[in-house]
Amino acid sequence: MPDNNWFKKRVNDTYLKKAHKENYRSRAAYKLKEIVEKYDLFKNVHRVLDAGAAPGSWTQVAVEELSGKSAKIVAVDLIPMESIEGAIIIQGDIRDNKIQAEITSAAGGLFEVIISDMAPNTSGVHHADSGNSIELVATLLKLSPFWLKPGGSFAAKVFEGPEYKDLQTIAKSMFEFVKSFKPKASLSSSREIYLVCKNFVQTKNK
Ligand SMILES: C[S@@+](CC[C@H](N)C(=O)[O-])C[C@H]1O[C@@H](n2cnc3c(N)ncnc32)[C@H](O)[C@@H]1O
Repeated sequence: MPDNNWFKKRVNDTYLKKAHKENYRSRAAYKLKEIVEKYDLFKNVHRVLDAGAAPGSWTQVAVEELSGKSAKIVAVDLIPMESIEGAIIIQGDIRDNKIQAEITSAAGGLFEVIISDMAPNTSGVHHADSGNSIELVATLLKLSPFWLKPGGSFAAKVFEGPEYKDLQTIAKSMFEFVKSFKPKASLSSSREIYLVCKNFVQTKNK
């Protein structure tokens, strides 16, 4: 019986091998690299929040991209993450008030970019998984007025589902530029998509 997924697996393998060779902790690094390149995400950026950062390949990319610019990179995850020189790592749930206060104090100022590759534990029930993923990103969007500099950017992974349109509507009320992007490094069989927002216009005073 021919394996219909052979091509997808080959693509998958290519990024995995590349990640091993280039010392990235995960092949997810290449998804962020595509987003950064396409949307010029890290231009003139010194402060980045990386939500759902473990094992750390997005943090590695952020450290590389921001090096030499007195960068402040704060990486947060539920699970422990090995240290990365140039990044502050916080272990905990981004929805937890105490963790949010830790992030604010570690940042020491407003972020210019918030990136999120957060993924909830998947159940295999597509509707539930996508609902949980959209809720996580909505929480992060709600926190943005407290963390993000006016004019700042936001890029987050979402498992597409029926509520995705509502999430886009919220994003459009906060950012001048909102797009959905599927990087080549993301398997076409995966329902993940990246919500990319630029030019944050909503401040907490509004
Ligand atoms: C796909 S992984 C991230 C991969 C990472 N971007 C990289 O390049 O190595 C998703 C991560 O989201 C984290 N996560 C899920 N829900 C979270 C939450 N509420 N707060 C913080 N991290 C969360 C998970 O623990 C998991 O490590």
